[in-house]
Amino acid sequence: MKNIVIFGAPGSGKGTQSDLLIEKYGLGHISTGDVLRNEIKNGTELGKTAQSYIEKGALIPDELMISILANVYDLFGKDHAGVIFDGFPRTIPQAEALKKMLDERGHKVAAMIELDVPEEELMTRLIKRGKESGRADDNEETIKKRLVVYHSQTMPLVEWYKKEGLHHHIDGLGTLDRIFGDIQKVIDNL
Ligand code: AP5
Repeated sequence: MKNIVIFGAPGSGKGTQSDLLIEKYGLGHISTGDVLRNEIKNGTELGKTAQSYIEKGALIPDELMISILANVYDLFGKDHAGVIFDGFPRTIPQAEALKKMLDERGHKVAAMIELDVPEEELMTRLIKRGKESGRADDNEETIKKRLVVYHSQTMPLVEWYKKEGLHHHIDGLGTLDRIFGDIQKVIDNL
C-alpha cells in the first residue's frame, strides 16, 4: 500500500493536488474535511458536533476524529493501491493513531508531502474560493483562526514526520503542473 499524507495549511492545495494524484496513480482519497462536510449535509450527530467546531475555525477533538479513522480507511482504502490522507493527521495524537491503525493492518505511510505556501497567498486563495463556492469557513475572520490553529497544533507534525524519515518539502507556490511534477518525483522514487 502506497499511503501518502498530503500536508499543508488551509488553501495550500491539498485537495487540488489530491485530485491529480488520484487520476494519475489510482489512489483512494480520504479528505477528513469532506467527510465532515458530508456529515453536516446529512444532519448526523457527528455533523452537528463538527459544524460547531468548523464554523469557529477550530479542530474537531482528537478522540472523535480518531474514533472514525479505521472505518474511513477500510471504506476508502479497499480496492486501491494506497490512500491519500488529505487533512489528516492534524495533531500529533492523530499521527500516532494513524501509525497504530496502519501497523495493525501491516500497512504504513510511505511519504508525507508538505505543500509550503506563504500566508498572504493562502488568504487570497481562500477568500476567492469563499466568494465562488460559499464555503462557510472561507471568510477572513475564520481563515485567520484556521491559520493560528494550523501553526500551533498542526505544524509540529513537520518535525514528527522528519523524525520518522518520511517528510518531503514542496514549494506550493506556482503552477499546478510544476507543483504536481515535484510531487510525482517524490512518489515515483518511493
Ligand atoms: P479541510 O476541509 O481539510 O480544510 P483545510 O485544511 O482548511 O484545507 P482547504 O480545503 O481549505 O484547502 P486545501 O489545502 O485542500 O486547498 P485547495 O486545493 O482546496 O478542513 C476543514 C475543517 O474541518 C477544519 O478547519 C477542521 O475544523 C475540520 N477538520 C478537518 N480535518 C480534521 C482533522 N483531521 N482533525 C480535526 N478537525 C478536522 O485549494 C484552495 C484554493 O486554492 C482553491 O480554490 C484552488 O483552486 C486554489 N489553488 C490550489 N492550488 C493553487 C495554485 N497552485 N495556485 C493558485 N491557486 C491554487
